[in-house]
Amino acid sequence: MTTTPVPPPGCPAHGSGQPIPLHTAQFAADPKAFYAYMRHHGPASLVELAPGVEATLVTDYGAALDLLQNPTVFHKDSHRWRALGEGRIPADSPVLPLLAPRPNCMFTDGAPHLRLRQAVTDSLARINDIRLSQTVERVAQYLIAQFSARGSADLLNDYAKPLPLFVFNELFGCPSEIGDRVMFGIAGMFDGINAEQANHVLVQAVGELVALKRAQPGDDVTSWLMEHPAQLNDMEMVHQLVLLLGAGAEPLRGLIGNTLHQVFTNERFARSGLLDEALDDTLWRNPPMANYAPHYPAVDTDVAGHKVRAGELVLVSFAAANAALADQASSNRAHLAWSAGPHACPSKEPGRLITLTAIEHLLNELPDVELAVPEESLVWRPGPFNRALAQLPVRFAPVKPRVSAQPQQPEAPLRPQVPQPSASGTDQSNSKRPGRWSAFLAWLQK
Ligand code: HEM
Repeated sequence: MTTTPVPPPGCPAHGSGQPIPLHTAQFAADPKAFYAYMRHHGPASLVELAPGVEATLVTDYGAALDLLQNPTVFHKDSHRWRALGEGRIPADSPVLPLLAPRPNCMFTDGAPHLRLRQAVTDSLARINDIRLSQTVERVAQYLIAQFSARGSADLLNDYAKPLPLFVFNELFGCPSEIGDRVMFGIAGMFDGINAEQANHVLVQAVGELVALKRAQPGDDVTSWLMEHPAQLNDMEMVHQLVLLLGAGAEPLRGLIGNTLHQVFTNERFARSGLLDEALDDTLWRNPPMANYAPHYPAVDTDVAGHKVRAGELVLVSFAAANAALADQASSNRAHLAWSAGPHACPSKEPGRLITLTAIEHLLNELPDVELAVPEESLVWRPGPFNRALAQLPVRFAPVKPRVSAQPQQPEAPLRPQVPQPSASGTDQSNSKRPGRWSAFLAWLQK
């Protein structure tokens, strides 16, 4: 039986014809109520992403697919964004970093997109699954060793957040003196701490990585991208790398956190070992990239019955589109969590592998791990795009670390000197030398 959704608590737009704000604490606390409400009123709604930034949000699965698979009308290049061109978007708007034009495959269309995208997909396809899962296990082991003797942890900030950053450092072949700054840059950009400085540090470090790999190519994603027949120049290399690192780290943190949340709170998955199913269920019901896929119509058009002018911002709510079908379909993978069409995520398989390996390893190491607080008290981070917990406090019987927790080197906080896991995948985690991972971790957890 379906019931008429009530206006979400605190929704000031109810009945006023005003855009529905997605940047509020109310939205973060109960997005499902907002989605149900919007869907009840039609397949697309006017929303506010941040003060002064409006968009049309498509909340219906069929309408979302129609849009995502129609690149002739719906373009990604945000140079077309009318409000931005007319100076109506505040220069310091928190949503600009994720919407402003960039010369990468996410914000280009047609032949330029195909060229960049091919280089990205071909390079990601060269990732060796066995080596990737070994890297994830090694990083997981290191991170768990930091808190396992304590009997408690915040799995978001102690595990889900640093793990993708460490794994990427290995995957992209960053030597330690560059890797530290890459990780600092990504973490800072997404946490909004000195976002401008973080972006500057990241771009500079990635530029150095490109110069290094031009001189000394290795067995890593950066070198594979460089070797690709698309022959990316240095500027293109930097922009694709920044995209890959950024587009990967933030949703991976969310996916690991949201899947752990599902495992801890849903009887069906708790201790059942059905991690694959828990992951798919999360991708249906709680996708980490909840609302995104910014598009701009090339001409005045109709989006699911909603008039949209050329150059107006249209987004897809992957979360809302999935929600209507999740009960019937959660055992298959037809959800939109990775988007669809020409800009769908090129990294589904590595993304799944990293997430599943990280969670499996954690549950094997700490078999009795459980939530340390009532589910209702968990706080979700505000923001219109991502769905991610702020913290995930857990408890477990303390376990003696299986590897050295590698104490921090206070005199050289971002000067790692340590066990670089070797390209052959040989485990060096038992090394007694102090670690670059520990130095970065200390900074990250401040
Ligand atoms: C290894 C980790 C990941 C990497 C390297 C990665 C990389 C990328 C890249 C390069 C794009 C742009 C593709 C294009 O525009 O042609 C993209 C898009 C996308 N990714 Fe990922 N991604 C990763 C993990 C994830 C995860 C965990 C999710 C969530 C489940 C996700 C969801 C998406 C979505 C929804 C899009 C479409 C965005 C849009 O249309 O604007 N990605 N990803």
